Amino acid sequence: MTDKIAIIGFGNIANAIITPLLDKKFIQPNDVYCVVKSRKSLENIKQNYKHNINVYESSSKESKIIWDCQVKLLSVKPQHLIDIFEPDNIKIKDNLLVSILAGVSINRLTNKFPNHKCVRVVTNIPITVGKGLTGIAWCENLTKYQKKITKKLFENTSKVYEFTEDYLDIFLALTSSGPAIVSLIIEALSDGGLSGGLPKILSEELVMEMILGTISLIKEKKLTTSELKNLVTSPGGTTISALRVLEKKSVRSALIESIISASNRSKEFS
Ligand SMILES: NC(=O)c1ccc[n+]([C@@H]2O[C@H](COP(=O)([O-])OP(=O)(O)OC[C@H]3O[C@@H](n4cnc5c(N)ncnc54)[C@H](OP(=O)(O)O)[C@@H]3O)[C@@H](O)[C@H]2O)c1
Repeated sequence: MTDKIAIIGFGNIANAIITPLLDKKFIQPNDVYCVVKSRKSLENIKQNYKHNINVYESSSKESKIIWDCQVKLLSVKPQHLIDIFEPDNIKIKDNLLVSILAGVSINRLTNKFPNHKCVRVVTNIPITVGKGLTGIAWCENLTKYQKKITKKLFENTSKVYEFTEDYLDIFLALTSSGPAIVSLIIEALSDGGLSGGLPKILSEELVMEMILGTISLIKEKKLTTSELKNLVTSPGGTTISALRVLEKKSVRSALIESIISASNRSKEFS
């Protein structure tokens, strides 16, 4: 990448996106211009961050330099968006602004940053270990190059999917709320093991290995989930007994509703 890139808010997610790109030398540290709110974060990055990037406090005059960068990653919390202002005297129009803010629409971004082409991205927390899922909704009139750069930012740490914006809420529900839902399922199944007398740590390890193994089996043997379910469910056996309890307690319906609810909440934020 040859462009200068501005990072507006260098927290957990921005760090997860940018650090591997710096590690792999896709971008050079002196091309990265990052701005944070507090002196504490500024000092922390200066003293502890492994790459020697340019970093500024948002209230400083020097931080205005970020508006000269061709690519911007907007990664503050949504409630801090009101503190970010595009200057009037912006030199190059139509620079790219990539927002990862949950629930902030392209329309709202474009109104706030009229001299930018604003792209909306939803990514999820496993991006911090290079296993993320990223959904991108494009604005109109982007160049091929701007699309390529946007994908490049995320391809290294996640699988990238392209959507129209109206699919981002359900994508967010599945992928961003999903890790919490799956964690709750792991916790509950582990408690089942605990109730049966297994130590907590062992029980949790067994549940996680079982889930990983199940996913590998489905993928490697190209099974459908119903085929796998039938494979391990014998007449009058233990598994059908377990599944019967889940159906009685409407677990399947509760999971479906949980995703719809998260998606509706995301729409409300937008
Ligand atoms: N966490 C997730 O699971 C997740 C997943 C996907 C997407 N997202 C989205 O990613 C965004 C960032 O989340 P995060 O978890 O990385 O947040 P975070 O760790 O709290 O980082 C936010 C960053 O924004 C900076 N900031 C605040 N106000 C600013 C201002 N006026 N100018 C410049 N920088 C400012 C903060 O600086 P200080 O440290 O100095 O305050 C901090 O560096 C959110 O919008 C969220 O919706 C989060």
